[in-house]
Amino acid sequence: MIFFLYIFFSFAIIKMALLCGLEGAPTFLVPIINPPFADTARPFFFWRNMMPSPDKLAQRYQRIHRQLQDLLTKCNEPVARMSTVIALLHHKFPHYFWTGFYLLKKGDLLVGPYQGPVACQVLEREKGVCWAGVLKEETIVVPDVHKFPGHIACDGRSKSEIVVPLFAADGTVKGVLDVDSTQLNAFSAVDKLWLEKIVALL
Ligand code: SME
Repeated sequence: MIFFLYIFFSFAIIKMALLCGLEGAPTFLVPIINPPFADTARPFFFWRNMMPSPDKLAQRYQRIHRQLQDLLTKCNEPVARMSTVIALLHHKFPHYFWTGFYLLKKGDLLVGPYQGPVACQVLEREKGVCWAGVLKEETIVVPDVHKFPGHIACDGRSKSEIVVPLFAADGTVKGVLDVDSTQLNAFSAVDKLWLEKIVALL
């Protein structure tokens, strides 16, 4: 019992410190900050009221953007670069539940590097939010996925979603970045602005 209380309060205090703007933490604290269940069953009831304000959110995106500018100079391999973007984003925001790329291959939209629960490998053609992002060539913010015609539910826990197109050097769309949240209306203009900037780094 005491052990569980200790773990719970350690987690709460460290998480609060991080969300209040104290970025970075000693490596030995990582299992407490990101416990093994973090990807699949985040205790969002606990995190929800700790969501950063729009200003703090923008500042965090800005720091991640700067960090990625540096990290992405190290390698030209697309899978390595996309995986780096996903890993950094997925673990920095409490409202991210599934974070990944869907990439166009021979007319199909196939899953690329991702973090979060197991996702659909192939998306039915010209259906759902990801395909809408590809076809319209613009960012799609969906406050409630159940109200989006044709939405493809790879995981029933997803409630809102943002899809940002990824462009090749010749200006054609080659895929999308897709982020899902278990909360309704989780993505704002701040997420849209910064995710577009981050995808442009690839
Ligand atoms: N919801 C997406 C499918 C991908 S999953 O969310 C990971 C869509 O409607 O295209």
